[in-house]
Amino acid sequence: MNDHPQASSPFRTSQLEENDGPGHNPTENPTMGEIISSRFSRRGLLKGSLAVAAISATVSPIALILADEARAESASAFNFDELEAGVDDKHHVAPGYDADVLLRWGDPVFADGPEFDPANQTADAQAKQFGYNNDYVGFIPVDGSAEHGLLVVNHEYTNPHLMFPGLVKIVDGKVEQAPLSKEQVDIEMAAHGGTVVEIRKVDGKFQPVLDGKLNRRITASTEMQLTGPAAGSDRLKTSADATGTRVIGTVNNCAGGVTPWGTYVMAEENIHGYFSGELPADHPEAANYERMGVPEGAYEWAKFYDRFDIGKEPNEPNRFGWIVEVDVNDPTSMPKKRTALGRFKHEGAESIVAPDGRVVFYLGDDERFDYVYKFVTAGRFDPDNRSANMDLLDEGTLYTAKFSEDGSIEWMPLVHGEGPLTAENGFASQADVLIETRRAADLLGATKMDRPEDIQPNASNGKVYVMLTNNTKRSAEQVDAANPREKNAFGHIIEIAEDGGDFAATKGKWEVLLKCGDPSVAEVGASFSTATTANGWFGMPDNCAIDSAGRLWVSTDGQGPKATGRTDGLWAVDTEGEARATSKLFFRVPIGAEMCGPLFTPDDQTAFVAVQHPGDGGEDWDGFGRASYYEDPSTRWPDFKPDMPVRPSVLAITRQGGGKIAV
Ligand code: FEO
Ligand code: CA
Ligand code: CA
Repeated sequence: MNDHPQASSPFRTSQLEENDGPGHNPTENPTMGEIISSRFSRRGLLKGSLAVAAISATVSPIALILADEARAESASAFNFDELEAGVDDKHHVAPGYDADVLLRWGDPVFADGPEFDPANQTADAQAKQFGYNNDYVGFIPVDGSAEHGLLVVNHEYTNPHLMFPGLVKIVDGKVEQAPLSKEQVDIEMAAHGGTVVEIRKVDGKFQPVLDGKLNRRITASTEMQLTGPAAGSDRLKTSADATGTRVIGTVNNCAGGVTPWGTYVMAEENIHGYFSGELPADHPEAANYERMGVPEGAYEWAKFYDRFDIGKEPNEPNRFGWIVEVDVNDPTSMPKKRTALGRFKHEGAESIVAPDGRVVFYLGDDERFDYVYKFVTAGRFDPDNRSANMDLLDEGTLYTAKFSEDGSIEWMPLVHGEGPLTAENGFASQADVLIETRRAADLLGATKMDRPEDIQPNASNGKVYVMLTNNTKRSAEQVDAANPREKNAFGHIIEIAEDGGDFAATKGKWEVLLKCGDPSVAEVGASFSTATTANGWFGMPDNCAIDSAGRLWVSTDGQGPKATGRTDGLWAVDTEGEARATSKLFFRVPIGAEMCGPLFTPDDQTAFVAVQHPGDGGEDWDGFGRASYYEDPSTRWPDFKPDMPVRPSVLAITRQGGGKIAV
């Protein structure tokens, strides 16, 4: 097993994204000890350890395995010919499907947007073009159509070494990166945020509608409003904003969601990388910032903008790390940072309407040993009155999860004045609880998880799927039932069933759906079904989607030549019946990329996938074997033209000849 499966990049922004640091959770929250629950072991015995047994050949129930494989294959909810796993400089999709480029970094998203000219890029041009490093992808239908709607896409972060010519030199075999100019920083800021763009299906393929009236770019310079219980707190006030309610920009928008009322939510994740400088001595925010890893300084923005220098603006980091809501119906509307959903390294915010009409948002805090959350609105969703829903996210209850070894889950409310969340512990108000959500959850004894990424409720079966991407720092003593492997290099997926099928319930049950990694290596302890092929297994689950048939699709971040012998991609994962825990490879990305999105249109005829940071890496690939940068990238995907850099892009996957995917 590889302790550090991810190749460590020489470039600062790539290191930030790898997010493989020590974790910032200092607490001794009780782990569940060395007992691995018997229910968990039983599933392992029935599935994964049969595969292990076949390899170690101590017992040899081959006939049983073959029968198991045959049953799982015939019971699978997915029907397509599996793609071969591997590593190269291109994308690949299962036979019989097309994967067409829809939008690339630099493509205009307005009728007056300039054509991409990478050698002469400007911030003004970038602000009218598709941003960098597409992550979350959402689709908001126009008039209920599956063929016409708004595509919303997050642009999580920038990789200057792949964006700007002349920045990187190799000196004596070592990488040297020149400092960025102000214009380059401004381009980075304009390449962050999100894109809202109208798309329409023409002759069976989606195309952007560049004169769409609702098209919009949101960037690290877009003015935003802070709303909810923490808005106006003294801890959110800066020299530019005496009200504590107005922020310039959003950064590191990782995954997100589309609400039942048709707004777009963006999750601010690794915000610590944007801040530099030093806090004044004995500053009251010191412990708060340490818990968030602020400042990390991967970006050079503080050189030109004081708001990213915590020595000059000590409260600014408290204005990032929130869920941002965008009213896509009004391109002039001010996005709102909804403080009621807490402040941490937000991965995403997928939602579902509970039986009583309250709306439940599932939230992950992506750091080693950090927590799973959900937010339940106080008000009820009104499907007939959009405007009545527009501030639902300002009032409700934020909960954090405790996973017990008996397979139960408890959602513990983060409410000021309840339990330890009092002035005695430094929480003078609900604003304080929300600004320091992590510390509040520490005090409640939430379960420390192996990097919670996307969390997806599934209306079809009433379950919730939690992607836990990896945590190689978990020691044997820190193993617990919900995080059952030490040095968890390949991650796992937990399935939650809320009590009574009510997503707003405060109790439920959980079990491990899948321990990831190569099931043919016994020590990995993976638990894919025996029907899963050598192409079908994966590691490092990150994003996921549920299609309209209720099927689970999982995309990955962090695989590669050394880690798993395959690039990241999109896998179809069975959750029901005999086929449960069977996985099949559908799509894979070029070298250096991670797989984001994914998203299915409501008719299941198109799958959007976001290829993020292609060409970022390749040192560990025999086909390249050196540092990858603008002039010498490990791939020039997707254009493969000598004067074009590698470009993060969103693709649309369709079945050749039309029809639903994988039926
Ligand atoms: Fe931006 Fe947790 O992935
Ligand atoms: Ca992610
Ligand atoms: Ca990730």
